[in-house]
Amino acid sequence: MSKKGMHDLDMDLIEMTMDIMKYVIARVSDTQPELGYPKKEKELQDFIGETITEEGIGGQTAFNLFKEKMLKATVPSDHPRHLAFVPAAPTKAATLFDVVVSATRVHGAYWMTGAGGIYGENQAMQWLVNLTGLPKPAFGVFTSGGTSANLSAMVAARETWRDKNEENKALRGLIITSQGAHSSIKSMAKVIDADIVLVDDDEEDKLNGKWLQKKIDELSPTDRNRLFAVIATAGTTNAGIIDNLETVADVCEKENLWFHVDAAYGGGALAAPSVRHLFKGIERADSITIDPHKWFFSPYDCGAIIYKNPELARKAHAQQGSYLDVVYQDSSGFNPSEYQTQLSRRLRGLPLWFSLAMHGTKRYTQAIERGLELAQIAAEKIRNSKHLELVRDPSLSCVLYRRKNWNPEDYSKWTIKNQQEGFALVTPTQWTKNGISETVSRFCFINPETTEEDIDAILKSME
Ligand SMILES: Cc1ncc(COP(=O)(O)O)c(C=O)c1O
Repeated sequence: MSKKGMHDLDMDLIEMTMDIMKYVIARVSDTQPELGYPKKEKELQDFIGETITEEGIGGQTAFNLFKEKMLKATVPSDHPRHLAFVPAAPTKAATLFDVVVSATRVHGAYWMTGAGGIYGENQAMQWLVNLTGLPKPAFGVFTSGGTSANLSAMVAARETWRDKNEENKALRGLIITSQGAHSSIKSMAKVIDADIVLVDDDEEDKLNGKWLQKKIDELSPTDRNRLFAVIATAGTTNAGIIDNLETVADVCEKENLWFHVDAAYGGGALAAPSVRHLFKGIERADSITIDPHKWFFSPYDCGAIIYKNPELARKAHAQQGSYLDVVYQDSSGFNPSEYQTQLSRRLRGLPLWFSLAMHGTKRYTQAIERGLELAQIAAEKIRNSKHLELVRDPSLSCVLYRRKNWNPEDYSKWTIKNQQEGFALVTPTQWTKNGISETVSRFCFINPETTEEDIDAILKSME
C-alpha cells in the first residue's frame, strides 16, 4: 500500500492552495492591513500552542493558525501609518511575482540553472546601475539585503587591497566611516575582522572630504598602512542625510582607497529628479549598496550591491569546488554567486524586474517623489503646530521632530500605546548635535499610500 507523500496532490492540498491564493489576493489588495503587536513568547505559546507534530496538523489548521493568531503578533511593513525604522511598501505586482519566483523553484546562483531569470534580474540591475551614473563595466547583483551588500563590498575592497602587495596580506584592515553610518557597517567590519575609525560629522551633519582628510592625516603610520576603505552614506537611516560624496571621492582617489557608498535606504531617491543632485559624486564610487526592499517597493528580502569593476568582486567572491567546475565552463553567462557572499539563492531580483517591466520606471519616480513630498508636508504641519518643533529640515523622506516638554519615557509610552491600539507605528530615536543627545520622534516615509490625514492623526495623538 503506498502512503501519500508530502508532494502528492490531494483534496486537502487543493483546498489549501485555493485558500492561500485567496488570502494572497486579498492581502495584496488591502491597503489598511491590521497593525499587530508583539506578544510575549509565553503568551504566544498559550495562544497558539505546539504546531510541529509527528503526523502534522494539516495545511488548513496550520494556515488558519497563521492567519488568525500568528499574524496578529506582527506588523505589516506597508501599513500607511507605519513610519518607523525604514518601512516598506512592495507593489502588488512585485509581491505577486515573489510568489511566482518561489513556485518556479529555480536555483538562481548560476547562469547554467537560472539563465532566463538572471536575464530579467540583470535588466532591473542595469536600471539601478544607470541611476547611479557609474560608467561601464559597472554592474551588480541582488543580495539578501543591505547588510549582506555592505559585507560583500567590504570583502571585495579588502581582497583588492590585500592583492596589492604581500605585506597587506598580514595586516588587519581598517575602514573609515562616519558617525551616521548604519550599524551594519560596524557589525560587518567585525565579520571581516577589520577595525573602524569614525569621523565626526561636519556642521551640516555630513561626512565631508576635509574632515576625512584630517582624520587620515592623524592616523599613525601603522594604521595608515592598514586603511583600505572609506564608507560614506547616501541617506543615513536616522535622518536621511547624504554625505558630501564628491569631496569624499576626491580624498579616496588621492589616497588610493576603496570608496563605498551605503545607499541602502537613500538609493531609491536616485530615481527622484528633485533630489538627484544631492548624490553628486556617487558615480565615482567603487561600490554602492541599494536596497530595493526599502525604496524600490520590492518584497523582503532584496538588496543590491553594485561594483565599479565587477571583476574585482568576482576575484574576491567566486567559490571553487570540483562540483562547481561545470558552472564555470561556459564563461558567457553571469553567475550571481560570484559577486557576493551567498551561493544558493532565489531569483530575488525578479519581483523588482516584473514590477518595473509592468509599471515602467516613471511610476517608480512618481511614488518616490511622493515619499519626499510627504516629508515636506509633515514638516510644514510640525512647523505650524504649537506643541511640536522640527529638529532639522527633512532630509530625503526622514523627519525628526520633538514634542515640547516630553521626556524619553513619554515618547516610548506614546509609541507603545499607538501600536497596542493598532493605530500607528512611529518610534523615537536619538539626535545628537554638538555633543548633546536628545530623544526625538522620527518619521520615515516610503509608502505613497500614506495620506495627509494619516500624518494629521499621528500629530494630533501627541497633543
Ligand atoms: C543605510 C543603511 N544601510 C544598511 C542597512 C541594512 O539593510 P538590511 O536591513 O537590508 O540588511 C540599512 C537598514 O535600514 C540602512 O538604512
